[in-house]
Amino acid sequence: MIDLINVEKEFILPHVKEGGVAVDFTMGNGHDTLWLSLHVGELGKVYAFDIQKQALENTAALLERENAPKNYTLIRASHHLVKEYVNEKICVGMFNLGYLPGGDKNITTLRDTTLAAVFAALDILDNGGALLIAVYPGHAEGALEGDLIKEKLSALNRKEFCVSSFRIINSPASPFFFLVEKK
Ligand SMILES: C[S@@+](CC[C@H](N)C(=O)[O-])C[C@H]1O[C@@H](n2cnc3c(N)ncnc32)[C@H](O)[C@@H]1O
Repeated sequence: MIDLINVEKEFILPHVKEGGVAVDFTMGNGHDTLWLSLHVGELGKVYAFDIQKQALENTAALLERENAPKNYTLIRASHHLVKEYVNEKICVGMFNLGYLPGGDKNITTLRDTTLAAVFAALDILDNGGALLIAVYPGHAEGALEGDLIKEKLSALNRKEFCVSSFRIINSPASPFFFLVEKK
């Protein structure tokens, strides 16, 4: 069976540059931050965002435990403010939407700020770079986020961006993702 977490990494990996700058827009428990940190390497940088103190604590502990290169900055702020913190082009941005696994399910990403963050991410995305946006439509806000993101990404200029989506079509509540590649 398809494992979304592994499949999505296959799609984003070709865009992750060693020595490049990456952003984890939804830090959570830090698994994506760790993955990005290891792949951009000692000379690269990772900025990771979350609004919850618990996420920063869990992520810091994971990075420490796994001996990640000290190439990361953990930021407690909403991801739609990314341009206040990141003043350089990025090769990759990852969004894993929804709530903190093991945390408060009422604190979840919300479609308006998510959309603002996605468009801010597009502004700072380097040529040849990509965004990965994983959506969890099994809860109400997740389904609405997915619909809104699909609508807005569908309207991007195809000469500038290639937008694709991967979805298990006989399981509509399963997670799915969008890949936005900048030409
Ligand atoms: C599904 S989790 C992310 C999982 C994470 N990538 C990992 O590897 O463990 C979603 C996270 O988004 C965070 N979040 C919610 N709203 C946010 C916002 N406006 N800006 C940044 N993070 C937000 C939640 O606090 C939660 O920790």
